[in-house]
Amino acid sequence: MSSIIAPDKPALPETRLTRSLARELLEEYGSPLYVYDAQVLRATIEQISEAVNYPRTRFCFASVTNGNTSLLRIFREHNWGLHANTPGDVHLGLNAGFAPAEIVYSGSNLNRDEMRLMLEREIGILNLDSLAQLEMLRELQRHRTKSPRSRVGLRLNLPEITGETRIGVGAHELADAVKIANSAGLKLSGVHFYRGTATNSTSAFADSIATVCQAGALLPDWEYLDFGGGFGYPYNANRSAFDWSTFGAELERRMRALSRPVELIIEPGRSAIAGCGTLLTRVVSVKRQGEKQIVGVDTSVVNIAVLSVHGGHRRIQSMTSDVGEDLITDVCGNTTFSRDYLGRNCRLPRLQIDDALAILDVGAYGYAMSSHFLHRPRPAEVIIENGTHRLIRRREDYTVLTEHQV
Ligand SMILES: Cc1ncc(COP(=O)(O)O)c(C=O)c1O
Repeated sequence: MSSIIAPDKPALPETRLTRSLARELLEEYGSPLYVYDAQVLRATIEQISEAVNYPRTRFCFASVTNGNTSLLRIFREHNWGLHANTPGDVHLGLNAGFAPAEIVYSGSNLNRDEMRLMLEREIGILNLDSLAQLEMLRELQRHRTKSPRSRVGLRLNLPEITGETRIGVGAHELADAVKIANSAGLKLSGVHFYRGTATNSTSAFADSIATVCQAGALLPDWEYLDFGGGFGYPYNANRSAFDWSTFGAELERRMRALSRPVELIIEPGRSAIAGCGTLLTRVVSVKRQGEKQIVGVDTSVVNIAVLSVHGGHRRIQSMTSDVGEDLITDVCGNTTFSRDYLGRNCRLPRLQIDDALAILDVGAYGYAMSSHFLHRPRPAEVIIENGTHRLIRRREDYTVLTEHQV
C-alpha cells in the first residue's frame, strides 16, 4: 500500500485549535472527534469568492464533501448556493435553508422517482449526464401539467481535456440534445464541466475554459456555464497548490470576451472546506518495532476519507506535546484491517497512552466518507466559533448497527 506520510516538522494548523482547547474538547465530547473551525471556513470562503470578479458569478458549495447542516448554513450566510451531487444533497440543502432556486444539481443516473422528485422540488438547475437522462426528463414532463421551474443543462464530456471519462455528453451530441429538449418544450440553457478531482494544476483548469465555452456556444439558448469542482487542496504544503486568483482572472477574461452575457457557476467542494476540519483522537497503545514507534489510536480509516482523497499525504500532530525525541511513527487504527493506517512514517514525539493526536485537513470527504465497515460507529462533530464550541452532530452508538435490521 502507498504510504501516508507527514512532513518532517508538521506546521501547527492554521486553525486556532490549540493543545489546551483540543484536550478540553476531548474531555467534554469524547474521542474520536471531528472539530471544525468556523473562522477558517469563513476566511476560505471569502478568499475563494474574492478570486473571481466576473459580475454574474455564483458559487455553490458541493455538499458531497461535507453535509453537516451547521456548516452548510455558513456557506448560505456568505451567499453561496449549494451543488447537489445526489437527491440526498438536495434534501440536505433544503433542510439547511437554501431556497430551491439556490440549488444546482449536477449528478449522474437518476431513476424516474428521483428525477420526478427533482422536478417537484423545483430546484434551480438540473445538469444531466446523458441524452437518455434528458429523454427521461422529457417523458416525465409529458405527464406533468406545469412546465419545470428548473433550468436544464448538460454535463460535458470533453475527452480531449480530461481523457476518457464516463461522465457527460460529447459536444457532437449537443444538436440532438437540443432537439430532444425542444420536443418537450424545454430549453437547454447550460453546460457543466468537471475538470477532474483534486487538481492542483491551475493551468489544467485555465486552459480548458475556451473549449468549454465553445461547446456552450453550440446551444442556441445558452445562459450559463457551470465549471464544476475538482479544485485541489494543498494537503502537501511542499507541492504546488491550486491558485484561485490566477484561475479567477482567466475565467473573468474569457467570460467577458463572450459575445453574449453568460452566467458563471462554480462548485468548489474540498478546496473550500478541507482546511477547517480536524479529527482528534486519543492514543490507546504504544509499542516499538526496532526504531519505529507503533501507535494505536481510538479511530480508524473507516472514520475518515479513503487514501485516494488526500493522495497519500496527511498531516498528523501531537496535541499533547511536541517536545522530546522525534520518532518515525506509524499511526494505526483500532481495527485489524490491513489498511488501517492513519499515518505511516510520520515524525512524532515519543507518545504514551491518552495523549491526543490531531489529523489535519479532514473537513472534506472526512465524515462524509466515513462508513460502518468494521462496525465502528461514527464520531461526533463539533464547531468552534467566537471563542466557544458546540456539538453539531451526536456521536453514534451501537444501535446504528442494528436499527434498520428486520
Ligand atoms: C459535479 C461536481 N461538482 C463539484 C464537486 C466537488 O468536487 P471537489 O470537492 O473536488 O471540488 C463534485 C464532486 O464529486 C462533483 O461531482
